[in-house]
Amino acid sequence: MENLDWKNLPFGYMKTDYNLRCIYRNGKWGKLETTSSEYINIHIAATGLHYGQEAFEGLKAYMGKDGKVRLFRWEENAKRFIYSAGGIKMAPFPLELFREALFEVISLNKRFVPPHGSGATLYIRPLLFGSGAEVGVKPAQEYTFIIFVTPVGPYFKEGFTPVNMLICRDVDRASPMGTGTFKVGGNYAASLRAIIAAKEKGYSNSIFLDAKEKKYIDECGPANFFGIKDNTYITPKSESILNSITNMSLIEIAKSLGMKTERRPVPVDELSTFTEAGACGTAAVISPIAKIFDPETNIVYEYSKDCTAGPLTIKLYNKLVAIQNGDEPDEFGWMTIVK
Ligand SMILES: Cc1ncc(COP(=O)(O)O)c(C=O)c1O
Repeated sequence: MENLDWKNLPFGYMKTDYNLRCIYRNGKWGKLETTSSEYINIHIAATGLHYGQEAFEGLKAYMGKDGKVRLFRWEENAKRFIYSAGGIKMAPFPLELFREALFEVISLNKRFVPPHGSGATLYIRPLLFGSGAEVGVKPAQEYTFIIFVTPVGPYFKEGFTPVNMLICRDVDRASPMGTGTFKVGGNYAASLRAIIAAKEKGYSNSIFLDAKEKKYIDECGPANFFGIKDNTYITPKSESILNSITNMSLIEIAKSLGMKTERRPVPVDELSTFTEAGACGTAAVISPIAKIFDPETNIVYEYSKDCTAGPLTIKLYNKLVAIQNGDEPDEFGWMTIVK
């Protein structure tokens, strides 16, 4: 295993040994190719550069204390990757080829899988873009798939301590009939102005509202939102948010812990009724929320006064992390051991 300061890794890019590539040409996918280069040679008229034909995924591999590397619900990422490709008219990357590439890239970089108990994980980034040349606005004829890995520490430097969020009222990340449900680069570009503005004001991230009415909660930066009250886990239903695999899983865990769950539009006004709130996604699992500030009304919604997460948030987090790390039985059948 690589000799790194695993406990203090940033959530950033680090060169590993290999990445894999695959090209779609003449209507079919070619063979997976292995390389140690971090660069690509790309046509100046590639649609990925001009018209945003680009989608990606993010998932993690975890080292168990039994020395086995586990993947969390990778088929869900593979399916979402196909869905995202369809959303912007790209050739979808087949699920079976995704599996092969995923397992191969982990095996080739096994020395970079962080040790059990370090809090760090191996982040896996598959991406797909139009690499064929076009000048008119149309889908490319050629696509490039790349998958690389990088060991990462926790996404939020604060770790599992509650963070403050700012409601964004002057930028829309995605619109109801737009691309918000697809994991495409354009959504992230559209969110940057708001995220940077929130950080400049000292907030951890920006909470996006629905673009149409500015009345309902959409997303928490690059993560889904949830609120908890009366033993009920409540998370937004919206046509402009990414269907988070972490959120899906937390809903299942909440049910198994005897909580009620609701997926429905969550009005901003309802924030005052929650006793706990958080953001969830692969990167942070859960980022508990201390305060949410609404600049339009000057209202501060507060969920933590003592820098600790609420009891149900802690329970949900501990259960999911224990399953991912292989510390508790995988009662939901979510984990796959990478042989
Ligand atoms: C916009 C957005 N919402 C939600 C999520 C969480 O999704 P997942 O739990 O599948 O990582 C992500 C990705 O992490 C995201 O980029």
